[in-house]
Amino acid sequence: MPKPIRDGKGPRHVAIIMDGNGRWATQRGRPRLFGHHAGAKRVREIVEACPDVGVKYLTIFAFSTENWKRTQTEVAGLMSLFRRYIQKEARALFAENVRVRFIGDRVKLDKKLITLMDELEVMTAGCTGVNLTIAINYGGRDEVARATQRLAQDVAAGRLCPDDVNEETLPKYLDTCVLPDPDLVIRTSGEARISNFLLWQSAYAEYEFVDTLWPDFSAAEFSSLIGSYGLRERRYGGVKA
Ligand code: FPP
Repeated sequence: MPKPIRDGKGPRHVAIIMDGNGRWATQRGRPRLFGHHAGAKRVREIVEACPDVGVKYLTIFAFSTENWKRTQTEVAGLMSLFRRYIQKEARALFAENVRVRFIGDRVKLDKKLITLMDELEVMTAGCTGVNLTIAINYGGRDEVARATQRLAQDVAAGRLCPDDVNEETLPKYLDTCVLPDPDLVIRTSGEARISNFLLWQSAYAEYEFVDTLWPDFSAAEFSSLIGSYGLRERRYGGVKA
């Protein structure tokens, strides 16, 4: 098993598609929400592992713009889980110096959840440890469309010249404008697709698709994947130096 990289070769920003909660629950004859609750418990372990393996930014996909298609029971259960997670974990995250941010379109979220999200962002704004970004009602295409709308408004108002729209200016309008691009994207549960996650930002990310279902994903496996990343050669479209 490769050792975690500690000499700056490891990924600074890891993004995770936490997949497999439903199957994990079904395998145990339990409702899907049981799997989501088990999945939520895993988040703490992975956040706590980040400083040990040199990961400064962790971005996790909690609810996509497409997840509204699930049953009303599952959607309501997930929203309630997010509210409870924030209420339960806020103190621990703050105590562990974790800066929490949320990305995604808040418009469709309930007011109580939005308030909790805002409060947690404010509470942890001065934290200087791991940057945890939680994507709720997030979709990469939706994010680019919303960004383009704001960009177009700036052009229409004369604040931005069309000639200045380029690869540097457009990302300033994305939800992730203060974050570096992910170096490594991990997806659990054996599915090999990106499902509309961080489309713009992951253009040159490395990918790891692992069979483990999210509720079984451990700090040891996370650390092992970080170690494997250190063995990869990233060329960004260039050639070997
Ligand atoms: C995908 O698994 C998982 C989700 C849509 C929800 C992710 C949520 C959590 C991990 C828990 C809550 C997170 C936080 C931050 C509190 P799936 O349901 O699609 O699994 P399946 O493919 O096996 O059906």
